[in-house]
Amino acid sequence: DEKKLTSAINQRCFYFDEISSTNAFFLKNVDELNSGDICVTEYQSAGRGRRGRTWVSPYGCHLYCSMYWNLSQGMAQAAGLSLVVACSLVKTLESFKIEGLGVKWPNDIYLNERKLAGVLIEMNGQADSHCHLVIGIGINVSMSEAQGEKIDQPWSDLSLQNPSLNKTDLMVALQKQLHQDLIEFESHGMKVFLPRWQEIDIFYGKEVKLLMGENQVLGICRGIDETGAILLDTNNGLEAFVGGEISLRSA
Ligand code: BTN
Repeated sequence: DEKKLTSAINQRCFYFDEISSTNAFFLKNVDELNSGDICVTEYQSAGRGRRGRTWVSPYGCHLYCSMYWNLSQGMAQAAGLSLVVACSLVKTLESFKIEGLGVKWPNDIYLNERKLAGVLIEMNGQADSHCHLVIGIGINVSMSEAQGEKIDQPWSDLSLQNPSLNKTDLMVALQKQLHQDLIEFESHGMKVFLPRWQEIDIFYGKEVKLLMGENQVLGICRGIDETGAILLDTNNGLEAFVGGEISLRSA
C-alpha cells in the first residue's frame, strides 16, 4: 500500500568502497538520516568493536554495515536492543542455510562456538525524548588464515557452509529483517524476542562466570529479562545483571 511504499522509498543505502567506520560516518550525519537507512562498505580503516577495541576490517571479504534508527522515546527505550539485533542477525543467516549459530550475551554471534559476527550500537540523544541509534554489524564472510591471525579470539566465517554466498543478497535480507524487528521492538519491547533468545543462547542452562572488573559471579544462566539483563541462578537466588563492562565465560 501507499504507506509501505513511502517508507521503502525513504530508506537509502550509502555504499562506500572504503571509509573509516560505517558507525562513525552515520553518527556524524544523524540529522540527515531516516530510520532504516543503511551504510555499507568494503573496507574500514578504523573499524570499531565493543569496549574500544578495533574491528579488523580487511578489504572485500566481509560485511561491514550500519543501520540508522530514530527511537521516539529516548535512550531508555534502547535497553535490550542489542539482543534483538543479534536475534535478527541469526534469523537472517539461518535463511542462508547457515547451521550451528548461537548468541552470547549481550550481543556476540557465534558459529560452532567461534565468533562469527558482532554488533556495536552507538547512540546520541536524550534519555526520555527521541534519540539517534546507529546499529553497526560486522560479519565474517570469508576470512583468510593470514587475516584471521590479527583476531584475538577463535573466529569463524560463512565460507565453509556457504562458499557462494552473495553479500548483496545478505545485506538486503538483513536490512529487511532488522527493519521488521525494530518496528516490532519499538511497539512491543523485548517480550516477543525472549523465547527466541532462549533457543539460541549458547549458555542457557549452563554454569557461567560473570566478570565485572575485579569481581566475578558464578551461576547457572537462566536467559534474559525484559530489559535485556542476564539472569543468573547464584548462591543468593536469581539475580539480574545489566550490560556495560561485564563479560561472560563458561565456568
Ligand atoms: C564487536 O566488538 O563484537 C562489535 C563489532 C562491530 C563491528 C561493526 S563493522 C560495521 C560497524 N562499523 C564499525 O566501526 N563497527 C561496526
